[in-house]
Amino acid sequence: MIQKIDKINSVKGTLTLPGDKSISHRAVMFSAMADGKSTVQNYLNSEDVNSTINCFRKLGCTIEQTETTLAIVGKGFGGFQKPDSNLDAGNSGTTTRLISGILAAQKFDTTIVGDVSLSKRPMKRVVAPLTEMGAKFETSELGSLPMKVFASDKLKAIEYDMQIASAQIKSAVLLAGLHLDEATVVVEHSRTRNHTETLLKLKVDEFDGYRKIYSSKNNYPKPAKYIVPADISTSAFFMVLALNLKNSELLLKNVLLNETRDGIIKILQQMGGKIEIENPRESSGEKLGDLRISSSELHNIEIDKNLIPNIIDEIPILAVAGLFAKGKFVIRNAKELRFKESDRIDALCSNFQRLGVECTEYEDGFEIDGSVNNENILVESFHDHRIAMAFAILGMLVGKGIEINDFESVAVSNPNFLNQVEEIAVK
Ligand code: S3P
Repeated sequence: MIQKIDKINSVKGTLTLPGDKSISHRAVMFSAMADGKSTVQNYLNSEDVNSTINCFRKLGCTIEQTETTLAIVGKGFGGFQKPDSNLDAGNSGTTTRLISGILAAQKFDTTIVGDVSLSKRPMKRVVAPLTEMGAKFETSELGSLPMKVFASDKLKAIEYDMQIASAQIKSAVLLAGLHLDEATVVVEHSRTRNHTETLLKLKVDEFDGYRKIYSSKNNYPKPAKYIVPADISTSAFFMVLALNLKNSELLLKNVLLNETRDGIIKILQQMGGKIEIENPRESSGEKLGDLRISSSELHNIEIDKNLIPNIIDEIPILAVAGLFAKGKFVIRNAKELRFKESDRIDALCSNFQRLGVECTEYEDGFEIDGSVNNENILVESFHDHRIAMAFAILGMLVGKGIEINDFESVAVSNPNFLNQVEEIAVK
């Protein structure tokens, strides 16, 4: 579906955005593993999280679903049943990689399949450490889906020195570790999102330049009440919109402010963005607060390479902020962008080039300079929700707007994106 996006003059008002995607996936998984009934409030009702929900239904869990709440009756340790067909992870890398760690410890075989995009994404990164733990997998020749996870006889605990900065790899290993008496250890050199360790209250030892995270049977999830803060990655699109429009002020309520995810706020503030945190508080072990954002003049800054894992999902919209900011926008050390829902370096550069923006592509990033010269043209979403929303925001900032192909992909993380924009747009 081609979506026309028109310029907006300003935004005003308050938005309470849906729950964080990473936390929603984990809350579903941990509830499904626990023995008894858990609830998840303000979960993200989107295609990705529904993929996780449906996988656990197939594994025998009863999951009652309303627009904002889940009631999940988990199966307890060793309680999952063999699914009668393949587990479909849809577009979701988080579903696939995290569930691999759980399935690796079951007494039955399963096969995970996914959509065209997910079927191209690398799975060796989880297969390698889980194989070291004694799990058995069969993937496509390219190391991707469909992936068969064989029944495991006996897994063993390992210490895994993680070379790629990835919360999904870390979580896969730690989730497999939950099935073992002995502690499994992940050594993390770059800080990645820590929701798995926070929600499961895992032991973490901090060292100079790295940390060790431990999991064992003692940490196996118990029934709980999860309350999910609003998604900071979804909030980022609205931050950039409000900052770049004149006469705008927006209040985003209950936004996740976890220190492994809040790099986007810090960077936009360093760029001159007026973002104030109000009412900071904690819920389910996660920090959250309300963000008051007002029109600002932004300038580009050098982005600290240590922050890349923290902002990895926000780089598409950060690049849009960078385009409208003074100076050149440069992002390097971000090769992981090539392995997301699309090759995001390629996707961003090709769209910027269509828009007449000067763009230089590198293996691990890109730089952009200048401004949009071709308005009201068609750009591609590359079936990637974050590319679709980033260019939608760009379209709301330029005179003649923009058209975006395959816009329906926004449903992966935020099916109500355009309604939310409508709510705050001043006509
Ligand atoms: C996620 C981790 C990140 C992120 C993804 C969600 C998670 O991926 O890009 O959208 O929930 O653990 P990597 O950890 O592979 O970088």
